[in-house]
Amino acid sequence: MSEPKKLFIKTYGCQMNVYDSERMAEALGGQGYVETKSADDADMILLNTCHIREKAAEKVYSELGRFKGLKADKPDLKIGVAGCVAQAEGQEIMRRQPLVDLVVGPQSYHRLPEMEAKTRAGEKALDTDFPEEDKFEKLKNRPKAKRGPTAFLTVQEGCDKFCAFCVVPYTRGAEVSRPADRILREAQDLVERGVREITLLGQNVNAYHGAGSNGEMTLAGLIWELNKVDGLERIRFTTSHPNDMADDLIEAHGTCDKLMPYLHLPVQSGSDKILKRMNRSHTSESYLRLIERIRAARPDIVMSGDFIVGFPEETEEDFQATLDLVEEVKYGYAYSFKYSTRPGTPAAERAQVDPQAADDRLQRLQALITRHQREIQDAMVGRTVRVLFEKPGRLPGQMVGKSEYLHSVHVVGPEISSGDLRAVRITESRANSLAGALL
Ligand code: SAH
Ligand code: SF4
Ligand code: F3S
Repeated sequence: MSEPKKLFIKTYGCQMNVYDSERMAEALGGQGYVETKSADDADMILLNTCHIREKAAEKVYSELGRFKGLKADKPDLKIGVAGCVAQAEGQEIMRRQPLVDLVVGPQSYHRLPEMEAKTRAGEKALDTDFPEEDKFEKLKNRPKAKRGPTAFLTVQEGCDKFCAFCVVPYTRGAEVSRPADRILREAQDLVERGVREITLLGQNVNAYHGAGSNGEMTLAGLIWELNKVDGLERIRFTTSHPNDMADDLIEAHGTCDKLMPYLHLPVQSGSDKILKRMNRSHTSESYLRLIERIRAARPDIVMSGDFIVGFPEETEEDFQATLDLVEEVKYGYAYSFKYSTRPGTPAAERAQVDPQAADDRLQRLQALITRHQREIQDAMVGRTVRVLFEKPGRLPGQMVGKSEYLHSVHVVGPEISSGDLRAVRITESRANSLAGALL
């Protein structure tokens, strides 16, 4: 038998790319590839890229440039670009960087085996179609390898919202939900391989409306089905849009025992003028009322969000409204970004905010978010949480896992194994994690 070929995948961007990279590794596993952790000994390098901000996209070209020496030493090395930059820039990538042999968009991963064969025949391979066939069905022949305790599972992909700043509707395409039975089969399979927590993924995951046994199923319906899966202990989902936060989903946060008390619900801005220009179709008021309802259903829920500062025409007053909203919600986690102009999106054509003013706002927003994050983390001290342990920590005998609120928790306990779910009393709040002791 011939030596297996080695595949190195580097993943950028969101969790969906992490999930997709696993699927690509499985697709190429069928072609005799095994994964390697180093680009140096690879026979194929795949960059699974992100196009969300300018910096993310530019990183890809600088990374590709670094492979020049490798390819000179090893002419058989194939280099591929996958993901959202591949979708957005297509052929342009091969023009800008002739080292690239293969460009594959997020909807064409199931065609990787044929594309790989084409590169082995000395040709370039490009596929950025939005094909009709179900890529997930074609990708399902996975090896039954054991897995860690947590996994992502894509249930919905693409977006029809067209926020004025965002490339996702162009790179991931129209919103599509996978049929519920296929998701449940995949979840069952993950659990059989050791997974105890599943995070359901979608660019607009709460818009999920896949085919179920009795017509369309909502995300809450899907979560209730997953709640019945023996051996599955925890369910999470991300990312949600405020306008798709249906009543049954809010209710599930109060009643579904495996659904974790954590919700990522991006608002982007606290100014109604800016929200309107972003085409977000909700107001700061409707968002705040929504959070009230979610907290009524699950009082201890930890909220998380995304913000953009320096969106075109944002004034200091608009920014102040964002600070006010953050002050009112008090996020346990929040991600904030300086607006980045994306060619082809509506906001790219508008009057841009002075970059220095935007930098200054970003710093002020992050300082406020960090303060709340700390307060919420510190308030965990003295409480008992349940921790799903994932891996050994840096100290001897130490294990690290996540609480239901997604805080990292360190515990010294040589008897703990990865995959254990244990009650832990929190004793200390550190920079980015908690420490505790088994109860
Ligand atoms: N599907 C998710 C968002 C994916 S992008 C959702 O709808 O919430 C993740 C985050 O990146 C967004 O929430 C937004 O805050 C940020 N983002 C998107 N486009 C951006 C841009 N052009 N400039 C800066 N940040 C951006
Ligand atoms: Fe982008 Fe999210 Fe808006 Fe869709 S809803 S366009 S993914 S920010
Ligand atoms: Fe980036 Fe594409 Fe995800 S642009 S954030 S990798 S959907």
